[in-house]
Amino acid sequence: MTTTFITGAAGFIGSNLTDRLLGRGEAVVGYDNFSTGQENFLVTAKLHENFRLIRGDLLDEKALTEAMAGCQRVVHLAANADVRFGLQHPRRDLEQNTIGTFNVLEAMRTHGIRDLAFSSTGSVYGEATVIPTPEDAPMPVQTSLYGASKLAGEGMISAYAEGYGLRARIFRFVSILGPRYSHGHVFDFYQQLRRDPKKLRVLGDGTQRKSYLAVDDCLDAILLCLDREEALAENKGFTHIYNLGTNEYCQVNDSIRWICGALGVEPEIHYTGGDRGWVGDNPFIFLGTKKIRSLGWEPHSTIRAGVEATVAWLQANPWIFSQR
Ligand SMILES: NC(=O)c1ccc[n+]([C@@H]2O[C@H](COP(=O)([O-])OP(=O)(O)OC[C@H]3O[C@@H](n4cnc5c(N)ncnc54)[C@H](O)[C@@H]3O)[C@@H](O)[C@H]2O)c1
Repeated sequence: MTTTFITGAAGFIGSNLTDRLLGRGEAVVGYDNFSTGQENFLVTAKLHENFRLIRGDLLDEKALTEAMAGCQRVVHLAANADVRFGLQHPRRDLEQNTIGTFNVLEAMRTHGIRDLAFSSTGSVYGEATVIPTPEDAPMPVQTSLYGASKLAGEGMISAYAEGYGLRARIFRFVSILGPRYSHGHVFDFYQQLRRDPKKLRVLGDGTQRKSYLAVDDCLDAILLCLDREEALAENKGFTHIYNLGTNEYCQVNDSIRWICGALGVEPEIHYTGGDRGWVGDNPFIFLGTKKIRSLGWEPHSTIRAGVEATVAWLQANPWIFSQR
């Protein structure tokens, strides 16, 4: 039986992946420091005999290395996933996203584990000049510490693939939506509207164009690549980079309409103005996904369905607002 080591297993994406792998009859070792992860997300997993949870930090190299013993592959999701506040604590992205990734690579090397999937981000493209943005877009100028720290992590991974025979899949996602979503614009808007359904403060002018992907579609892509490439893998290392996103985008204003429609509210909207929400916010994100589609993957959910499913989950899980 394959045992997958998942960093960030208690997070939004990690807990969904954990449940998915356990549901396939595989074993999972989850590693998480619960900085943003939730015990509640692992309630079902903890009932499973093939699940083991280890509370630990990526920066504790010894604990991380010990925890990884006996695993055959690693899905590295743990990170500071908060793009917006990077400039308020400039060391955080470097430590959590770059050094954390280096520690994961070293632990893998210690145990001779060669298969890795890594959650990078569409933010590495900064403000792309080519849209839809392909994986081989011209080397981008970084506009956020988050993007810069993830791109540095990607660099470490590809050097390990070359030097130590790692088989690495790097996924550059757009924003992800769905059950257990616990940070991002839908969360922020919903939280505001819970407090006061008559008012909504929107960063920027609402015309920013963004792409989103449902968490199930995201996991389909990650597992497709892991399963397929493990089967095909020769005895040498590789780095495969895949963009993940839908083939549509929406404006922030569309998303507001869908959220308000789902909640049955008509707030007065106050825009902070400008074409972006904060320094580092890319006003137009739309990734080209030909490469992952060529493997037979396609998303099943539209952006609108993803936003509405997220609102439905937040409505059914009000406890999350006291946790974040
Ligand atoms: N959610 C998105 O829209 C999105 C988009 C692009 C990329 N990503 C990437 O996907 C990954 C997962 O994102 P998410 O939305 O599930 O975020 P999340 O915050 O819900 O999950 C991250 C998990 O990692 C854990 N963690 C953080 N730092 C840690 C550390 N030092 N040691 C151990 N555990 C630690 C947290 O407790 C949490 O459980 C991240 O790498 C993120 O950058 C997410």
